Amino acid sequence: MFSEFTPIEKLTTAAAQQEITHLQSQLTTYGIAYYEKDAPLIEDHDYDELYAHLVALEAEFPQFVTPDSPTQNVGGDSIKSELEKVVHPAPMLSLGDVFSLAELDEWDARTTKSLGFQSDYNLELKIDGLAVALTYVNGQLIQASTRGNGIIGEDVTRNVKTIKTIPQQLTEPITIEVRGEIYMPKTSFAKLNIQREADGLEPFANPRNAAAGSLRQLDAKITKARELAAFVYYTAEPEALGATTQSEALERFSILGLPTNSKNRVISRISDIADYIAEYTTKRDELAYGIDGVVVKVNQLDLQFDLGNTVKIPRWAIAYKFPPEEALTVVRDIEWTVGRTGAVTPTAIMDPVKLAGTTVQRASLHNPDYLNSKGIRIGDTVTLHKAGDIIPEIGQVILANRPSDSQKYDIPLKCPACDSELVHIEGEVALRCINPFCSAQIQEGLTHFASRNAMNIEGMGPRVIGQLLKSDLIKDVASIYHLNREQLLLLDKFKEKSVSNLLTSIDKSKSNSLERLLFGLGIRMIGAKAARLIAEKFKNIETIATATVEDIANIDGIGTTIAHSVVQYFDLPESKQLIQELSRANVNLKFLSEVVIDENSFFYNKKIVLTGKLEQSSRPVATKWLQDHGAIVAGSISAKTDLLIAGEDGGSKLRKANELGVMIWTEQQFVDAQAKEGIDK
Ligand code: IVH
Repeated sequence: MFSEFTPIEKLTTAAAQQEITHLQSQLTTYGIAYYEKDAPLIEDHDYDELYAHLVALEAEFPQFVTPDSPTQNVGGDSIKSELEKVVHPAPMLSLGDVFSLAELDEWDARTTKSLGFQSDYNLELKIDGLAVALTYVNGQLIQASTRGNGIIGEDVTRNVKTIKTIPQQLTEPITIEVRGEIYMPKTSFAKLNIQREADGLEPFANPRNAAAGSLRQLDAKITKARELAAFVYYTAEPEALGATTQSEALERFSILGLPTNSKNRVISRISDIADYIAEYTTKRDELAYGIDGVVVKVNQLDLQFDLGNTVKIPRWAIAYKFPPEEALTVVRDIEWTVGRTGAVTPTAIMDPVKLAGTTVQRASLHNPDYLNSKGIRIGDTVTLHKAGDIIPEIGQVILANRPSDSQKYDIPLKCPACDSELVHIEGEVALRCINPFCSAQIQEGLTHFASRNAMNIEGMGPRVIGQLLKSDLIKDVASIYHLNREQLLLLDKFKEKSVSNLLTSIDKSKSNSLERLLFGLGIRMIGAKAARLIAEKFKNIETIATATVEDIANIDGIGTTIAHSVVQYFDLPESKQLIQELSRANVNLKFLSEVVIDENSFFYNKKIVLTGKLEQSSRPVATKWLQDHGAIVAGSISAKTDLLIAGEDGGSKLRKANELGVMIWTEQQFVDAQAKEGIDK
């Protein structure tokens, strides 16, 4: 019905702009009627035709694409996804952005002119995540939604409720909608991508995408397993909060138990903005989360109100975006390595360059498809950046610099470690070595077996395992339990003391509960959590080994893919024999229900320090509780500390934690989190 559009090539720029703006607003109206009111104004195919025309126009005239165009989805949010739709009570605005101090000065000059005087600014870090709105009624979290297109978002309440740092109950019974950013901490992002690659899945490009992908899951259990966190920074209802400035609002959020970023700074001279930007340009690499700039906000909320908003962005705030850090280097080689699951991964070996705080020489190229899409040749000059501030990633090849003798790499046909034929399993991007006796896989598998979250054999890291394999002292996980003193004394740098320590930790690992062994065996798709669920259900390894796919898939949280993988593993004669050998070596094969540390606990694996006087508990009691929930309780603060729990009179630890930007909780926040752990179980 709309085929009477003027052909795009005949449009003048001005006419195109007019048409684009018109279509954007028309489609937004139709979108709201359809998704929000369930009362479409036009037929679906007419909507699709208009939409397709807008896409074509915007492709030809990209200068007119606005962030709120119906074609633009924030963070991969699609308004057509299967999550329920939520209409925001007030539009969720984005921020205008500038890329230089000069542009920032211009923004300040405009703001100062409008106000008639220089206002104070609250400077904040621009967290690289995705925006979320949280609605609390009488202090109770009742709804969480993504930004979507700013007007309609998606209901992610169930998923957000799995994020430990977002309270389900505020410390006061107020009714308020607050907004903030959900992000994935850098370490969780790195861990998740390693796991995805091992599972033959495409890694996430950056923590922002990972956070968006994790939050927008239909299955909240998946969100829970990904470690997300949040910072709250805005409410459209400051009266409900009782704040008159942005900095006060942040303090009030914190008192209410909401997570806030403590790095904000109130300044009254415009030149101080440059100092803050310079400071965090340097410090950003040390932060536990990704930031992509600095947000400057007029501090006084009544002045914010006076300045008001445009349709898309507030006039009272601006985002200064960090320039992307990029370096040029030359690819010297492409190395192929074999992981625990047999995935063969290419890595670019490059001339070392300094990038975002570290020297980089290697960048993963993930899998052959990815490598091919980059079209890299050995000898090529490439741009290099860090995805989400952390992971070195090759951007593009500078073709103009390609030397005439550059060499095309070959995708290996044989395993670089064991020389057996590699396979491309259908539906997977990874190239795999499927030889169960492949030396590289054995080495990686043994390292995994001994690792902290598996059998936790202290002192048995990759170096020791490499030596043991080379000297033929071990061949599989069962043989670890036959090692003796004389054999270990032969190892490089091993003396009486280190030998006896290692033998003690090997011995200790024999009494681990079954889930550690099950995880340590390295069965495909079986992470620590799945291992625990399975061990808990079947109680001993013989019952697991004889269970059917249906029996296993019946466990809440375990799907059929995992169940198939378990059954396949225990069907192998080699696996049966290995279990027998472990049993003969007196390795415990039963689930011991006494101490099961929940890997999903907020406290799991967190380095936590206690300071000050606790009113509701004592230090030893709190320490024991934290340890039972998987925390590592330390005596002093370092950059590696995840959390400081500060009672009365925190003293020097509190000061140091503040300096290092360590997350700080009051005792009450700790008590609330303890209660939540109880409810979740
Ligand atoms: S203020 C009307 N503060 O950046 C209030 N936004 O590029 C608008 N963001 O959509 C948001 N850190 O998702 C604000 N400290 C911060 C922020 C922040 C990250 C995000 C937010 C916004 C986007 C704009």
